[in-house]
Amino acid sequence: AETKKIAVIAGDGIGPEVVAEAIKVIRKTEEVFGYKFEFEHGLFGGIAIDERGTPLPDDTLQLCKNADAVLLGAVGGPKWDNNPKELRPETGLLGIRKALGLFSNLRPAFVFDCLIEASTIKEEVLRGTDLIVVRELTGGIYFGEKFRREGPNGQEAVDTCVYSVPEVERIARQAFEIAMKRGKRLASVDKANVLESSRLWRETVIRIAADYPEVELEHVLVDNCAMQLLRRPTSFDVIVTENMFGDILSDEAAMLTGSIGMLSSASMGEGSFGLYEPVHGSAPDIAGQGIANPIATILSVALMFRLTFGYEDAASAIEAAVKSVLDAGHRTGDIAVDKSKAIGTVAMGDLIAAAIAK
Ligand code: NAD
Ligand code: IPM
Ligand code: MN
Repeated sequence: AETKKIAVIAGDGIGPEVVAEAIKVIRKTEEVFGYKFEFEHGLFGGIAIDERGTPLPDDTLQLCKNADAVLLGAVGGPKWDNNPKELRPETGLLGIRKALGLFSNLRPAFVFDCLIEASTIKEEVLRGTDLIVVRELTGGIYFGEKFRREGPNGQEAVDTCVYSVPEVERIARQAFEIAMKRGKRLASVDKANVLESSRLWRETVIRIAADYPEVELEHVLVDNCAMQLLRRPTSFDVIVTENMFGDILSDEAAMLTGSIGMLSSASMGEGSFGLYEPVHGSAPDIAGQGIANPIATILSVALMFRLTFGYEDAASAIEAAVKSVLDAGHRTGDIAVDKSKAIGTVAMGDLIAAAIAK
């Protein structure tokens, strides 16, 4: 097979810990399936601020642009929390998504039967949950104009939420396409009862829906969606929503799976290039202890193989390996019912890599 180039930007906190296990799994697929990968590492996030004075150095961005796919850990931490905007790790994350044109963030949330007991939600509510959040990633309040000003009562802060029709159209199309390949049900989540940007969102989604008559479309207000996710998660198939709603709802959806340490993501543009990262952050509270769950990052590799490389055999093998290790009862602390039996990050990565087979 031709060698695929993967840019690795491990970042901060548990980022490097979980990325190391993902690389271990990728290496194992070379042995088992004969694929070839080349890794190039770049500085990104807080560590890049410390070493290079910026969260997203030009050479890191170039490395990503020259790669076939990007594997990202996580960024951020208390050390940089009071920095000005340009010197924040999170600014680098938004910058890389924008610079690579990754407007579509796919966050699948499905429940492994053996992890139902790990969730805080009741078994009968959870069983069969299998949904995907399609989050718009390069627009909305994250990227609108932001500023401070003097108001009549002192300082004011302004964040603007802007969506253009083409921005909504392209994410809506992707969501409909995904729905066509899944259960053909799409919930478009907005706050159209209050926000003008949501009203434009809803109008646009309705117009695009005409091209997908087979997909059953419902519009759900975001507050109601947050509630329904806990009341009847199995009723959702594909959820499409704007940037900030998607950020919040996907962390909520993570708890259906048992832990934020289980949730993978793919960030895509129009083509097959993609950036793959766990949904969770740098987890400063557990960083350096070797106890982080690497499964979210490992499942993100499965998405990379499927969506960027078209290596469906290896993608399925990774998912099957994760399932078999969980079925055998192995747990990191975040998903362990009996915490005294929890294993560490490296042990979990070793077990999953060892379970990968044709
Ligand atoms: P977080 O996701 O880092 O952590 C939330 C909680 O979940 C913590 O208790 C943490 O220990 C736990 N957790 C997260 N991942 C885990 C894993 N793999 N295994 C076990 N437990 C896990 O969110 P936060 O605490 O709000 O944010 C911490 C930092 O991470 C902040 O600086 C934030 O900006 C950043 N962040 C980065 C990303 C990213 O890089 N994509 C995403 C979210 C947050
Ligand atoms: C995520 C994170 C980021 C986001 C932060 C760290 C900028 O929470 O990837 O979900 O809000 O997009
Ligand atoms: Mn988030």
